[in-house]
Amino acid sequence: MYRIQTLNAISSVIYDELDDQYQVSKEETHPDAYLIRSANLHDQELPEGLLAIGRAGAGTNNIPVDACTEKGIVVFNTPGANANAVKELVIASLFLASRRVIEGIEWTKTLKGQGDEIGKLVEKGKNQFVGPEVKGKRLGVIGLGAIGVMVANAAHAIGMEVLGYDPFISIDAAWHLSRAVKHESSLEALLANSDYITIHVPLNAKTKDLINAENLARANQGIRILNFARGGIINEEDLVKALEEKQVGRYITDFPSEALIGLPNVICIPHLGASTPESEDNCARMAAAQVRDYLENGNIRNS
Ligand code: MLT
Repeated sequence: MYRIQTLNAISSVIYDELDDQYQVSKEETHPDAYLIRSANLHDQELPEGLLAIGRAGAGTNNIPVDACTEKGIVVFNTPGANANAVKELVIASLFLASRRVIEGIEWTKTLKGQGDEIGKLVEKGKNQFVGPEVKGKRLGVIGLGAIGVMVANAAHAIGMEVLGYDPFISIDAAWHLSRAVKHESSLEALLANSDYITIHVPLNAKTKDLINAENLARANQGIRILNFARGGIINEEDLVKALEEKQVGRYITDFPSEALIGLPNVICIPHLGASTPESEDNCARMAAAQVRDYLENGNIRNS
């Protein structure tokens, strides 16, 4: 009998993978493995006997990976399993970063009670909330993993010129990942040549503050930035200053913070990138299968 503890909402499709050799519980029962979504494990003690952690998602920054490695606990993530969900929201956000729909919706609420005047007032809003099309504009994709490549291909399909940069892979390797992308050799070049950028690298010691005052100063003025990766990849203090100075024209983030909520030209989303039933099922199923394969056969796989 293997014992699995689920640490936060994990889709019940895990039971498709875990047969009656498995006892799954939310309670601490000397687990052999954890299945976890975004709960923060850093402040929690890792129980004796824990062999594996299956993270139903791509990022592992909520898991103390170094401490796990020291204790011989294998950490799995589910790369690609939620890529389509994130891609769809990123593409929607490209339009939101351009067209002033959100301000328009908020403004329209103020028309309640205006009765027959609403039609006339709407004409005013129509002129007030003009925003450009994305077709023909340049999108810089930072990070060409599963999500970045999908975003690049979809952005190309809607008529954008796509530039790409990945801090971890060479231009040659990147070329094989997506032919839709013109690869830039540096982050600075990507920022200087893009009208929009979208971030798709994991948060780690190498990518913390990857975007900061120094490289933002070299960016195309008014650049619109989308962040569905992690908050810490962009230095928040530098970003707020760049927004105030209009160096950054708009910031859409899945990682709200005290400093960002309520700022003009910032749209905060409550970490919804992967929140679709399809992606939750894909991630949970993949995480459960990886953990099972490890517990039963000792296999370590990343798919
Ligand atoms: C991820 O790292 O893939 C996402 O943060 C998943 C999630 O929303 O839990």
